[in-house]
Amino acid sequence: MFAVTRIVFLLLIGTSIDKALLANEPDSVYLFAYTTIKDKGRSGLHFAWSADRKKWNLVGNEYGYVKCDYGPWGEEKQMHTPYLFQNANGEWQCIWSLDETINQFAYVASANLVTWNSQRYPYLKKELTFRQPVVQYDKSSRQYTITFISGDKYYKINTIDFKTYDEAVAIPASAYKDDRITVTLPAGAVTGNVSKVAWSVVNKLTETATLKGYEYNQTRESFQNDSIRFAPLRSISATVTPDPEKRKPISDLLIGVFFEDINYAADGGLYAELLQNRDFEYTPADRKNRDSSWNSKHSWTTSGANLHFTIDSTTPLHINNAHYAVLNVQQPGSALINSGYDGIPLKKGDAYDCSLFVKNSDGKSRNLLVKLVNADGSILAQATIKTGSQQWKKYTTSLIAAADAKDARFELQPLSTGSVLLDMISLFPEKTFKNRKNGLRADLAETVAAIHPRFIRFPGGCLAHGDGVDNIYRWKNTIGPIEARKPQPNIWRYHQTVGLGYFEYFQYCEDIGATPLPVLAAGVPCQNSGLGANGFGQQGGIPMNEMDQYVQEILDLVEWANGPVTSKWGKLRAEAGHPAPFNLKYIGVGNEDLITDLFSERFTLIYNALKQQHPEITVIGTVGPFHDGSDYEQGWALASQLKVPMVDEHYYESPGWFINNPDFYDSYDRNKPKVYLGEYASHGNTLFNALAEALYLTNIERNGDVVHMASYAPLLAREKHTQWNPDLIYFNNTEVKPTVNYEVQKLFGNNAGTEYLPSVLTLSKEDEAVRKRLGISIVRDTTDGSIIVKLVNLLPVATSLKLDLTKLAPGSKAERTLLNGKPADRQNPVTVTTVAIGNVLEDTLLPYSFTVWKIHK
Ligand code: AHR
Repeated sequence: MFAVTRIVFLLLIGTSIDKALLANEPDSVYLFAYTTIKDKGRSGLHFAWSADRKKWNLVGNEYGYVKCDYGPWGEEKQMHTPYLFQNANGEWQCIWSLDETINQFAYVASANLVTWNSQRYPYLKKELTFRQPVVQYDKSSRQYTITFISGDKYYKINTIDFKTYDEAVAIPASAYKDDRITVTLPAGAVTGNVSKVAWSVVNKLTETATLKGYEYNQTRESFQNDSIRFAPLRSISATVTPDPEKRKPISDLLIGVFFEDINYAADGGLYAELLQNRDFEYTPADRKNRDSSWNSKHSWTTSGANLHFTIDSTTPLHINNAHYAVLNVQQPGSALINSGYDGIPLKKGDAYDCSLFVKNSDGKSRNLLVKLVNADGSILAQATIKTGSQQWKKYTTSLIAAADAKDARFELQPLSTGSVLLDMISLFPEKTFKNRKNGLRADLAETVAAIHPRFIRFPGGCLAHGDGVDNIYRWKNTIGPIEARKPQPNIWRYHQTVGLGYFEYFQYCEDIGATPLPVLAAGVPCQNSGLGANGFGQQGGIPMNEMDQYVQEILDLVEWANGPVTSKWGKLRAEAGHPAPFNLKYIGVGNEDLITDLFSERFTLIYNALKQQHPEITVIGTVGPFHDGSDYEQGWALASQLKVPMVDEHYYESPGWFINNPDFYDSYDRNKPKVYLGEYASHGNTLFNALAEALYLTNIERNGDVVHMASYAPLLAREKHTQWNPDLIYFNNTEVKPTVNYEVQKLFGNNAGTEYLPSVLTLSKEDEAVRKRLGISIVRDTTDGSIIVKLVNLLPVATSLKLDLTKLAPGSKAERTLLNGKPADRQNPVTVTTVAIGNVLEDTLLPYSFTVWKIHK
């Protein structure tokens, strides 16, 4: 009551008598911890307080102070029957039931109820479930006892540290004493448990929720009400005074790309193969057994009635590629058909390499007619392949398209009766990027290259650490002859042939002058993995007794990429066609993993081994999926403690967040690990989103001494096959559709500098909201002496700008590149003009615009 009185009073008369009122604060109150069943506890742990245990007041308006992080996206993440208590040292602990059907529970600790450590999900015996935990502490044995309900029985487990637990034992119902109470809150009756806390705890919780609410409101900033919000602002003038004396070197690798095989970015995307399921390795597991059409026959059909098409695996071409097609021909004339990814696109006059492995198990030689057939049935190309081998043998032919086609199909017709086995049936355009065999789709590869990325991170994100331990991306499975590579389910619920494998990634990096940045799992799979059948569940990890082997696999990668041709792994690289080293300098270890003990143990092993054996490699650690929270904090703590040179930060946010956090890196400790902002994007593909990203990138350039690299995510998305939106570049079979966000990346990539030149910005109207909508960054490219000025105006009004160049000693010629339009636009032209320049740069920054001045020396 006193607190409420105080707030009302303060509202009425201001804060001047704050001190006097503090005396009215209670020493302690009751804190009620609960979660709501309406959303299965997904909104986390809430609090209410009371002075008398009768009248309860919400704390932070049902803010979720800690949320369950268990299980796959969306489906799990449930918190049931939480029990909050303090341990013997006064540290807060919370235990809850996950979903009352599994033999695990959740545990988390916190020093202050505001920041929370990593969650743990201990296991119980298989037959047990876990509900309504109650925790008691026995001082004499220094032991905690968790009593809980499983089915209709009662159990207890003891622990001294919440890391190791004794086996659960049954107890009589009378020994289970639930002290939860049910109270009435504005939203209705809820059940939870009560602790006694100092009033300052409630104050801190309230303050936290208020701040989060304020930040949340900032994230909602958009252009929708700009005309009202900025109505008094008719125009604004800005004066920029550079201070080159204070210049500082910045990273020369700042803008790069992050390629992940998501949204069909690899198979059906950048990887130029035109046939889908060429290896007959699609498996129901790719789709978690939720799609009955997703099997070894997917994408293949037959025509005519005299062809029997089955799948077998008894005499495989390679152990990694077990399935193959068996065609039994009663009467020639029927065909096996593949329509690629939404049809096969062809260009008139272009050559297409057709290859396949054939085994004539019936001992007969036979001809196979292969055709490219247009949607209207017209034949665009055909060739006959003569096969005679009774063992698996590769055959090839070239097909030249007689006309353009958007959605042709591939047909294969055995010309004699009997049984023939087929595998790895491939159709590849001869014209790939740089005409590489097994190469990349040229238009997509060129569009990415046009960003002028200084590095490429690959092969993912979540894909890299995979859906469970068995799905971790293992680089060794992705090199060598394609028929010997090991395809596997893609965490994004499709199939990865790994035809685009490590060799191809490194080759592409080299082809476009980008530094390769492979990211490897830290011995743990994706934090959103399904529940493991191997007893690990949630994230799990490679068993410690297999970790030496896994660590060796990572060390072998360095030898494969950089070792001499005489080395075991360097030899394989040379045999694949690249005797020269690939010049690998960076390795990412982990991808936004939960920073658990399990993770830390494995990461430390890998990191120490790399540091010891390859000090020339910069290891990039991981600090969770957000710019705050427990994984961020603990990831940073671990990386700082181990002195990892760099960490990978990820955040997907609203434009409002990017606008309102211009100083995010300004106060980063320069003595701590450097930052790789490996994944970021504002939620959308409008000009407003793109400009918010541009604005943020000007701040990143200012912090280019601590932020070493940055990459937007995700990069590629096949239309109608996306698992994630927004993306940077959309495509279909015949078109590439870069977004306006892409234009921003391209402008930054092509206008990078190596030195940041600080400047002072003076506005005709000083106002925080206005200032936050203006971005400026001046850099010098020391390789050619050019000065680049980037100017972002996210205001609905023009800004006239004057920039004094005298101290920068510029040349007299400049290019001015402009991207502007209406904030909701999705496509905006970029115009470039060449302009003579003097000692003062004067420009009118249009509303919602990004202007880049490149002043040549
Ligand atoms: O970029 C898409 C996904 O976002 C990445 O796979 C993952 O790292 C992040 O959660």
